[in-house]
Amino acid sequence: MKVLVTGGLGFIGSHTVVALQNKGYEVVIIDNLSNSSIEVLDGITKITGIQPAFEKIDLRDKNKVVDFFNRHTDLAGIIHFAASKAVNESVQKPLLYYENNITTLIYLLQQMQVHALQNFIFSSSCTVYGEPDKLPITEKDPVKPALSPYGNTKQIGEEIIRDSSKAYGLKAIALRYFNPIGAHPSALIGELPNGVPQNLIPFITQTAIGKRAQLSVFGDDYPTEDGTAIRDYIHVVDLAQSHVVAMERLIQKKNKSNFEIFNIGTGRGSSVMEIIKAFEKVNNLKLNYKIVDRREGDVVAVWADTSFAEKELGWKAQLSMEDALRDAWQWELKLAQK
Ligand code: UD1
Repeated sequence: MKVLVTGGLGFIGSHTVVALQNKGYEVVIIDNLSNSSIEVLDGITKITGIQPAFEKIDLRDKNKVVDFFNRHTDLAGIIHFAASKAVNESVQKPLLYYENNITTLIYLLQQMQVHALQNFIFSSSCTVYGEPDKLPITEKDPVKPALSPYGNTKQIGEEIIRDSSKAYGLKAIALRYFNPIGAHPSALIGELPNGVPQNLIPFITQTAIGKRAQLSVFGDDYPTEDGTAIRDYIHVVDLAQSHVVAMERLIQKKNKSNFEIFNIGTGRGSSVMEIIKAFEKVNNLKLNYKIVDRREGDVVAVWADTSFAEKELGWKAQLSMEDALRDAWQWELKLAQK
């Protein structure tokens, strides 16, 4: 069965392509290479022994999207990763974010309707919950007003899919990711941050390797045990697997409604200081860091209630935060060799 993976050369996309191919799916990737590298295709091929089909298409180019779907009428499903994801940049360039993340979603859904394609998986984010009223967060908890255009594109994206699933009988699942980290244990694929990393783990690995002088810890006066903010860090290999399981649920018609939403996290929260200590321990090194002011827009603590995903999808994270920190470091070492 053939699955289209948009953004399939990106961080989560590439790990998902590996998981799909390992499960016997035929994959066709669309990526515009705006925040990814063509070399990722080699990494995927080395890991799985199969080179996925790849088309360099920018999904904002409607004619190309139409042409693609005219040539691929036999898709069993679509997993849509292609999107912009830098929170800060989205505040500076909101229209770019709405164009990249919303227009492209609409084009894809239109083509699904035209070709009567049914199964759609959407990359959503725990950012839709904002600062939660209680922890852990369940899927029933309210969606809060978005703090950034990026966050807003995830909320609007979910709404567009909800309306479309009602009107056109499309079947969709939105996966609300918590904080994806790590790399494939082979160190053949991993995260490739564009410029200075905004996210914690790539900043840590780049500091450890000497690309950055020092990690800034954004705030140690939060109302948490050690004063640093808490997130639910999930290994990207576990996260990738959740997409395969979600796609199978749709293909096998096990979904209970046309639009379902699942939290994809580990159910465990770690503070920034816990991450730093664990990184130092599993990799046997010392990290240069200092405490600075809080970063604007950061929430105090977020972690997932994963019981719905466990019960309904039969999916649960298998790898630990330590596994992810080890794999992220091995990947950084591999990058340094290149
Ligand atoms: C952010 C976004 C989230 C998005 C995700 C994409 C916000 C509020 N959330 O998640 O919507 O889906 O990125 O990857 O922007 N930290 C440091 N020093 C650093 C970097 C981070 O102390 O140099 C801290 C942050 O303050 C935070 C934690 O590490 O407490 C995790 O930060 P990060 O990796 O950027 O992820 P989020 O902000 O949780």
